[in-house]
Amino acid sequence: MHIVHTLSDLKGHLGAFRHPAVVPTMGNLHAGHLALVRQAKPLGDITVSTIFVNRLQFAPNEDFDSYPRTLDADCEQLEAAGCDLVFAPLESEMYPQPQTFKVHPPADLADSLEGHFRPGFFIGVCTVVLKLLSCTQARTALFGKKDYQQLMVIRNMVKQFAMPIDIVGGETQRSDDGLALSSRNGYLNPTERQQAVLLSHTLKTVANALRAGTTLQPREVARLESQAMQSLSSAGWKPDYVAVRRQLDLQMPHPGDALVVLAAARLGATRLIDNLEV
Ligand code: PAF
Repeated sequence: MHIVHTLSDLKGHLGAFRHPAVVPTMGNLHAGHLALVRQAKPLGDITVSTIFVNRLQFAPNEDFDSYPRTLDADCEQLEAAGCDLVFAPLESEMYPQPQTFKVHPPADLADSLEGHFRPGFFIGVCTVVLKLLSCTQARTALFGKKDYQQLMVIRNMVKQFAMPIDIVGGETQRSDDGLALSSRNGYLNPTERQQAVLLSHTLKTVANALRAGTTLQPREVARLESQAMQSLSSAGWKPDYVAVRRQLDLQMPHPGDALVVLAAARLGATRLIDNLEV
C-alpha cells in the first residue's frame, strides 16, 4: 500500500488505473470504514482511501481541533483491509488558497435534520467530496449509511453534476449492543458508553411501531417521533431530532414509501447520530 500526501504523488500513483474505487474518510477509522474498503475492492481496479479532516464542514463551536488524528494506526488498518493507496493531504494541499468556490446543496435535501442543526455542514461536505472525487479520479465511491443524509446529498450532487461516478452505500456496522460505530464514540466515558445503546434501541422502537401500524397517519408519525424524543430526554439525553422520512429523498413520508427513522442526540458532550431503514 502506498501513502501519498500531495496531489502530484497521487496522480503519479493513479497512473494508468481506469477505475479507482474510493472510500473518503476523516480518519480515526473503525470497522465501518474498513468494511467499506473491503466492499470497494471488487468494484474498481485500485482501492483508494482518503484521510482528511475537513475544516470546511465543522462549525466554529465543533470538534475540528480535537477530532482524533491517528494516521499511522489508520494506515495499518487500511493495509490489512486491502487498500492499495491512501491519500492523506495536508490542509495546505487541499486548500492552498481560501476555498471560495463551494457547492451549495438544495435546501429541501440539506437544510433539514443534520443541516438544520449544523448549518453549512453539507456545503463543507459537498465541497470537499467533489474535490476528493475529482483528485482521486473516482469511478466508484463508497459512503456509510450511518451518515444517511450525507449519502443522499452526495448521491444527488453526483447525479445533478453528471459526474461519471457510482455512489455505493455501505451498511452501518454496530457493536454487539447495537451502538452504531462512529469515530465520535471514542469521546464517550464508560458510563456514557453503556447508556449510548439507547439511541439505537429508540430507533428500533419507532421502526417496530411503524412496521406494526396499518396506516401512516401524519399525526401518528408525529406522536411516535415525540415519544422517542421524550424517552431520550428522560434518560438524560438532549435530542436534536427523531424523524421518520422516506428513504428516497428524506421528505415527509406518504403511504407506500420506504421509510427511514433518523435521530441525532447529545449524550454529555458527545453528539451521536444513527438511523434505521424500515
Ligand atoms: O463522513 C465523513 O467522514 C466525511 O463527512 C467525508 C465524507 C469524508 C467528507 O469529509
